[in-house]
Amino acid sequence: MKKTGIAKSIALALGLSAASVAQAADVEVLHWWTSGGEAAALDVLKQDLETQGVGWKDMPVAGGGGEAAMTTLRARVTAGNAPTAVQMLGFDISDWANEGALGNLNAVASEENWDSVVPTALQAFAKHDGNWISAPVNVHSTNWVWISKSALDAAGGKAPTTWEELVAVMDAMQANGITPLAHGGQAWQDATVFDAVVLSMGNDFYQQSMIDLDPAALSSDTMVEVFNRMAKLRSYVDDNFSGRDWNLASAMVIEGKAGMQMMGDWAKGEFLKAGQTPGEDFVCIRFPGTQGSVTFNSDQFAMFGQGDGENDAQLKMAASIMNPVFQSAFNVVKGSVPARTDVPNTDFDDCGKKGMADLAEANDAGSLFGSMAHGHAAPAAVKNAVYDVVTQHFNGDMSSEEAAEELANSIEAVM
Ligand code: BGC
Repeated sequence: MKKTGIAKSIALALGLSAASVAQAADVEVLHWWTSGGEAAALDVLKQDLETQGVGWKDMPVAGGGGEAAMTTLRARVTAGNAPTAVQMLGFDISDWANEGALGNLNAVASEENWDSVVPTALQAFAKHDGNWISAPVNVHSTNWVWISKSALDAAGGKAPTTWEELVAVMDAMQANGITPLAHGGQAWQDATVFDAVVLSMGNDFYQQSMIDLDPAALSSDTMVEVFNRMAKLRSYVDDNFSGRDWNLASAMVIEGKAGMQMMGDWAKGEFLKAGQTPGEDFVCIRFPGTQGSVTFNSDQFAMFGQGDGENDAQLKMAASIMNPVFQSAFNVVKGSVPARTDVPNTDFDDCGKKGMADLAEANDAGSLFGSMAHGHAAPAAVKNAVYDVVTQHFNGDMSSEEAAEELANSIEAVM
């Protein structure tokens, strides 16, 4: 179906009349979807709203994890000029809800019965005091590895399932003359890899260290080993990794200049945008040792208080986001999976189908955890403390022992 076709069918499914289409105002949307794959996904949303007469004013602020976007948001709200709708993650949503800044979406949520189709792990952030305050557009997860198929074939052809196998594959890639690990040296990207390495030490360890923030786990020998592995991974990146944007790291794998990238499934959006196909051009696996477990994050749109006209547009946007047809169309392009449990996997590629199955399995098994790097494990102050230590260790002379100690101390200091 063409994008406009999808948008029209969503408008029809929502029962929007020509009159209501004509009345809606614009939305100004603050987001960090600036890469090629992200922009393609954003377009699905823009076009859908356009069909309903809701205009789009773009407010992009690049940077995964949303740190920069949240700084801009704070400045805008302080200046009394909040954007209409804001992409937000986990604890950032809860923080703004606690400040009483977010609009109430109950009218559309109850009409469309969000309570019965949105997983409870997402409702934990999308609802505040029993009220719906944001519309979840997707579920991403961070414990993925994206591998060039040709580089993997040249390195023996077997996707690694353990740390030792991963190291062996990266050694082989290095011997074959390519950069084993495509990475962008930005704090949030270092932290995204860290999520996966912590999870690979076991579900209990992720729970204790990243969710419970238990000082004993944070400073444990296991955490020292996590940092040792981060240092080992650091030895496989190229000399120019510092400051590189994540999508440029994806491009290195797409072009066969690098073997793999450890990144959330938004990376898949870049591979698809470049015309690549899972299984043929690239391979998606869970970070070795984490199959069966998922560290998730969910992009949600929260609405800031506006006048009546804007409020109409906000509710339309929220309804559109949660429409099952839209959820499929958008997430197929974005690389994520739907935020509703009742969306068929028919239109998704093999990695998308795997993502949906893994999420359901992890949810049932109690091995679904909020991503620390992407704001779903702990509030921003803790997340930023983790960013600081992980990035200092990754880029400097800090020993793994010092890093584990520092992690426990700096988290304690902000709690
Ligand atoms: C968001 C994704 C986004 C990625 C990179 C994550 O925090 O959840 O939607 O694609 O950052 O920008």
